Amino acid sequence: MDVLDYDVLILGSGIAGLTAAIHAYRSSGGKVRIAIVSKLHAMRSHSVAAEGGVSGVLYPQLDKDSEELHAYDTVKGSDYLADQDAVDVLVKGAPKEIKFFDHIGVPWNRREQGRIMQRPFGGMTVPRTAFAADKTGFFMMRALYDEVLGCKDIDIFHEHFATSLILQKDGTSGFVAMDLANREIKAFRSKSTIIATGGASRVFGFTTNSYSNTGDGTAMAYRAGIPVKDMEFVQFHPTALVPSGILITEAARGEGGYLRNSDGRRFMEDYAKSKMELAPRDIVSRAIITEINNGKGLVDDESGMKYVYLDLRHLEPGKIDERLPMIKEMTIKMLNIDPSKEQIPIRPAAHFTMGGIHTDIHGRVMKSPTQPHDGLWAAGECACVSVHGANRLGSNSLSQCSVWGRMTGTAAAKKSMKLGHDRGRFTIEAEREAAALESLLDRKGDVNPYELKEEMHEVMDTHLYVYRNMKGMAYAREKLRSIYNRYGRVYVSDKGNTYNTNLRDVLELRNLIDLASIITECAIRRKESRGAHVVLEHPKRDDKRYLKHTIAQRSLRGMKVSYIPVKLGQFEPQERKY
Ligand code: FUM
Repeated sequence: MDVLDYDVLILGSGIAGLTAAIHAYRSSGGKVRIAIVSKLHAMRSHSVAAEGGVSGVLYPQLDKDSEELHAYDTVKGSDYLADQDAVDVLVKGAPKEIKFFDHIGVPWNRREQGRIMQRPFGGMTVPRTAFAADKTGFFMMRALYDEVLGCKDIDIFHEHFATSLILQKDGTSGFVAMDLANREIKAFRSKSTIIATGGASRVFGFTTNSYSNTGDGTAMAYRAGIPVKDMEFVQFHPTALVPSGILITEAARGEGGYLRNSDGRRFMEDYAKSKMELAPRDIVSRAIITEINNGKGLVDDESGMKYVYLDLRHLEPGKIDERLPMIKEMTIKMLNIDPSKEQIPIRPAAHFTMGGIHTDIHGRVMKSPTQPHDGLWAAGECACVSVHGANRLGSNSLSQCSVWGRMTGTAAAKKSMKLGHDRGRFTIEAEREAAALESLLDRKGDVNPYELKEEMHEVMDTHLYVYRNMKGMAYAREKLRSIYNRYGRVYVSDKGNTYNTNLRDVLELRNLIDLASIITECAIRRKESRGAHVVLEHPKRDDKRYLKHTIAQRSLRGMKVSYIPVKLGQFEPQERKY
């Protein structure tokens, strides 16, 4: 059994993971051995699908912008659940990261004199989202990947699926992973491990996320006893293409797009008169569903899905080609709709996991609600550092990935050191995992994993969507318990060793079911409406009882839920008006 030792181990290869690797390398002067382990080829990480841009204050005087204003927008957008010290770190760090990406080759759209162009995004007071057409994530990933390839001591293990996290008392950590090419099991061990495995929106059936976003790192951490935070807050992006769920970037509205109901009316004036289509996502998504519920939606014949329209027909000629070329390509390819001539059918889809692995402001993973773990970090969407609170503003996630990618990579490199020969539990865990996979393959189960996943999607799409209610969530909890129990009888049809994607799917399903159960449990207990979590029986925000973060932790008696205070600062909680 191979135990592979590294100084810094990074699980995940999106923007947070690759940024962490580069800064671990650079800050150590290339002296530490680094491994990136990803279940995908790194360049297929979901970050490549980020479209609209990355937020940061670049030209404060010229744009009448400030970090304080960025912080204010973010905290208000979060419905005051963001930790304000963390938001401060985000807004102060973001400009440097955008410039870093400029230096490593991201082809930002430009304004006069070569300045980086910035577009308006929802909930932001001024245009502060830097972008590369509508393929920002792709270009950032391309630049990062090239940079990583130039670092001589970074090993990349593409297509290795991690199955369990190992945390030892001496601070050594790591994980066991299966090489998808041949099903070989390997243990990766390090003094410094960073989890950067992305979000979990595949818990839902209708989502903008790629199939790979199954929350593996978050679920593994939870199973290893690490607390997860604020999992009830799932962001529904207002404009997902119907019926596929493909993301139609918020930049389409930033560039001037309208939302119209079946009467052709711009209904956002009833919900957010001053911001209209550029209100924060929670508000726009609710507006769309309210219109649909009030009979002002349309129906897709094939899927039966209800939708409203995104209208780009009035944009100046050339704008779509220059700033939204992928959206045009996508709507033509998927629906034969030229957005300069016809309206686009959209509805909200699960898009972003505001919650995640509980970290402190430095990205250190916590072992209890208040105590950090030595030598373990999380960065990017899988981490809940609490900058997004109950509702993230669009384009703040790429800044989060970059800021905490740099921070955790640098800290991990500093902490790392070569290990001796004590392999601890690693070999044992790897062998245990190999045996477990073997027995999973041998199992004579009678439950089809794909049917079980569909059942979970149905439950989540119906009862944990934009509007939630107590009865629906209680039903979802019961259903998920049954799904969890039946998972024990799931069978793997493919017994092969080469790219056994059937086995991988079954392992991902375990992660999804765990996270769906946590989302539901935490949602049931938060009896208020805040940001993306709206409960019909409790329609108001309740700061007295719930201005706090939810912590879910695995215990011997099942899931334990507790709360910790929100870190407030200069922005006092107020009613959100847009
Ligand atoms: O709409 C978008 O382009 C998505 C951006 C984001 O989630 O930050």
